[in-house]
Amino acid sequence: MTETRSAELYRRALEVMPGGVNSPVRAMRAIGRDPLFIAHGHGAQLQDVDGNRYVDWVCSWGPLIAGHAHPAVVEAISAAAARGTSFGAPTEGEVQLAYELVDRMEAVEMVRLTSSGTEATMTALRIARAATGRETVLKFAGAYHGHVDGLLAQAGSGLATNALPSSPGVPAAVAAHTVVVDWNDPDALMQATERHDFAAILAEPVPANMGLVPAQAGFLELLRQRADATGALLVLDEVISGFRVARGGAQQRTGVLGDLVVMGKIVGGGLPLGAVGGRRELMELLAPAGAVYQAGTLSGNPLATAAGLATLGLLDDDAYRRLDATTQTLAAGLQIAAAGYPIHVESLPGLVTVFFREGAPHNFADCQACDTETYGSWCRQLLKAGVYAPPSQFEAWFPSLAHTQADVEHTLAAAQQAFASLSG
Ligand SMILES: Cc1ncc(COP(=O)(O)O)c(C=O)c1O
Repeated sequence: MTETRSAELYRRALEVMPGGVNSPVRAMRAIGRDPLFIAHGHGAQLQDVDGNRYVDWVCSWGPLIAGHAHPAVVEAISAAAARGTSFGAPTEGEVQLAYELVDRMEAVEMVRLTSSGTEATMTALRIARAATGRETVLKFAGAYHGHVDGLLAQAGSGLATNALPSSPGVPAAVAAHTVVVDWNDPDALMQATERHDFAAILAEPVPANMGLVPAQAGFLELLRQRADATGALLVLDEVISGFRVARGGAQQRTGVLGDLVVMGKIVGGGLPLGAVGGRRELMELLAPAGAVYQAGTLSGNPLATAAGLATLGLLDDDAYRRLDATTQTLAAGLQIAAAGYPIHVESLPGLVTVFFREGAPHNFADCQACDTETYGSWCRQLLKAGVYAPPSQFEAWFPSLAHTQADVEHTLAAAQQAFASLSG
């Protein structure tokens, strides 16, 4: 059998790149196959280097809410590139993007742009520690906030996918400043906040890195209350949920606002960009306004700000209605396609997870009890049928504005067949 081009590239990649990839989940180990190398994408369609086409539900793990190579985004990037790719000096685009984020997010009065969500989380925690004079941070099991040293404890996402409870290489002294509490467990939250003086309570208001596990009624309100009662800052990580589940992110849907907000993915429209925002007096702790150091050669890069602005420019009320409609059709259809096979489909506008278990999971342990092996074989069958679903039980599907009714129908037909073969 001749080697596929993907297989050849993977073989070569393994020689010079650890695991053959630049981010672990891409290796597709969790679904027991080798990675696909992508040639190009248009709208919701992806084509690999062997010419196979897929309906793409990963969409670069969230940034591509407008789909691949949206003409408005491509044009904005091209125009920005023609003016110069980086100056290391302020540009108008940064100011425009900052105003756009302040306009959309009620909790955000000022922003600092970074080059990734990881950096934005790091910066948020540095601000929180400086503002409170405290060091310890509370995070939730199964929440992923980027590969920040101290936050790689029970961090869901790629770590769960690769069955790594945490990461070697993180100094014990750094990890000691993180306390991990179960999501949706009010008692554990109460106890932890009584026992420790936290600098920050850090949460994804819509956790989507153990699969999608929304907060149960009152839990986000309790986070806000405990932060206020104990002098901790509430840091809400909207890297996934921001500008996806609503125009103003999860905070708009729930009304629970953070003191600091971490953003990424959609804000960069597919180019490297993250942001941290929040109340003026906290944000002005950052240098050069204040003494908390933070910097970046490519922070606020002109191409990334142009892509972000163009993407956000597409996200009006009608766009959110369409995204919601696509999501609902997909989610309801997947549950029907299962035809009694024991799964639970969770969804919010722009996010879906097909959990291979009966009933809704409420925390990381519930998610880890899923039948990941069967998810893997289901997912491999979808790929064969031209549907690129997240190659891990613990990652969300990302419906976009580019997905058509035909894309959803093709996906549901493939899903139905794959479920039938599992049952049979
Ligand atoms: C909720 C959340 N926070 C932070 C990050 C880190 O962002 P980045 O990969 O841009 O560093 C991610 C990445 O998936 C994320 O899902």
